[in-house]
Amino acid sequence: MSNPSQTTATAPTAPQEHEPRIVAFQCKWCTSAGSDLAGVSRIQYPANAVPIQVMCSGMVSPMYVLSAFNKGADGVLVSGCHPGDCHYMKGNFFARRKLYLVQKLLQFIGLESDRFRMSWISAAEGTKYAQVISDFVRDMKALGPQRKLKAKR
Ligand code: FES
Repeated sequence: MSNPSQTTATAPTAPQEHEPRIVAFQCKWCTSAGSDLAGVSRIQYPANAVPIQVMCSGMVSPMYVLSAFNKGADGVLVSGCHPGDCHYMKGNFFARRKLYLVQKLLQFIGLESDRFRMSWISAAEGTKYAQVISDFVRDMKALGPQRKLKAKR
C-alpha cells in the first residue's frame, strides 16, 4: 500500500535533442522536381527543411539568406540546376558567384561556414536530394541552435 504523502521519484528525462530548422531555396525546374521525386519514390529523409521554391537559384538574393538566419534558421540551403543546365542559361553561374560572397561574409561575421550550403540537384536526383537534406540536418544537430544572426525577441 502506498503512502499518498510520499513523493515518487521520476527518472530524469533525457535532454531534448535540438531539431534544426533549415530553409531551402530550391529552383523550380531541378531541385524542387528532385524533392518531388524523393517524395513520390518514398525516400525517407528528415522533415526539418522548409522548401521555398524559386524560379532559378540566380534569383536568390543575399538578403533572403540573411533574413532566413535572422528569423531563426539554423541552416540555409540554396540549390539549383547543375552548372550548364540552368533554364535561364547563366542563372546558376550568377548564383554561384553571388553566394560565394555571401558565404565569405557569413564567415567574416563569425557564423559557422557549415550553416550555409549550395548544391546542384537535378529533377532526376531524388536520392541525392534526400542525402543532401539528411547530411545537413545531421550536421546542424551537431552544431546546435544558430544564435549569431537570430533576432532577439
Ligand atoms: Fe535552375 Fe536556374 S533554372 S538554377
